[in-house]
Amino acid sequence: MTRPRILSGMRPTGALHLGNLMGALENWVALQDRYECFFAIVDWHSLTTDYADPSAIRENVLDVATDWLAAGLDPARSTLFIQSLVPQHAELHLLLSMIVPVPWLERVPTYKEQQQQLTDKDLSTYGFLGYPLLQTADIVIYKASAVPVGEDQAAHIEIAREIVRRFNNFYGEVFPEPQTLLTESKRVPGTDGRKMSKSYGNAIFLKDDPATVREKLRTMVTDPARKRRSDPGDPDICPVFDLHKAFSPSQTQEWSAAGCRSAGIGCLECKARLADHMLDHLAGIHSRRPELEKRPDTVWDVLLDGSRKAREVAEATMQDVRAAMKITYPKP
Ligand code: TRP
Ligand code: SF4
Repeated sequence: MTRPRILSGMRPTGALHLGNLMGALENWVALQDRYECFFAIVDWHSLTTDYADPSAIRENVLDVATDWLAAGLDPARSTLFIQSLVPQHAELHLLLSMIVPVPWLERVPTYKEQQQQLTDKDLSTYGFLGYPLLQTADIVIYKASAVPVGEDQAAHIEIAREIVRRFNNFYGEVFPEPQTLLTESKRVPGTDGRKMSKSYGNAIFLKDDPATVREKLRTMVTDPARKRRSDPGDPDICPVFDLHKAFSPSQTQEWSAAGCRSAGIGCLECKARLADHMLDHLAGIHSRRPELEKRPDTVWDVLLDGSRKAREVAEATMQDVRAAMKITYPKP
């Protein structure tokens, strides 16, 4: 009984928040039953934008891995690894760079978007242009049949398929075309109502203890028109209600929506109920994370172990690739 293989990756941006949990991590945890999973912490991808100051990467890798394990990624079933500990990704990236037309990379929507948005960084580099190519190497080196990602990554998986077709045309069928395994994600706003993001300072982190979670919710923005307890509100424009939709059962959502519209409940009451459900949802993480924090070496061991397994699979693929590209030589 072989499970189809999937791979996904996360950049080590630091401690994960509820947006990361609901948008990706919980899906990954669930996929472990049905798929042979490879999950990479892609430190080289962080360097494509943060090359000028890489000082946080090591700590961020540990934070991400700790959150992964707390959330239920299971090293007994899945391979959790660090991209740069599998140098075969770099070799494949180089070989693929020989066949990828530069305009394919320039056309990827995130390329120009990010250059325009991250104005404090010089993203005119060769490495940043190659971001989707490195991602392609991450995926195909495991001959993954699918990639669980959100909508924002669809263009990256599309270019991976195009590169695979071009490679297979030149050198024979080495790689399968990876499919997109679209993970549906609910809107998870941060405490200021904007998309939850570490850089906005509006995030609720997996490592926040229950008291911190409650306090962050207590001061979260609501429907701005609801100034007094007696003013009716509109749950459809309230970010707190979006969180109810992500964390609360339907009866609570109905209670909150009706009570909001009739001014039958107050915002503090609404938020306290949300906090109860959110903390229920996070109970497993809150019980596992402190233990993991105390033993960083066991977390590193998981990553070193996984990286060793990943290297074996990646090296086997590279032997196929080198043979297909006619760059094999007598062994010394
Ligand atoms: N680009 C992805 C992101 O920003 C991260 C990533 C790198 C990735 N390599 C990958 C995702 C391979 C899926 C598969 O989220
Ligand atoms: Fe938002 Fe709840 Fe207040 Fe309505 S009652 S505005 S849904 S926090």
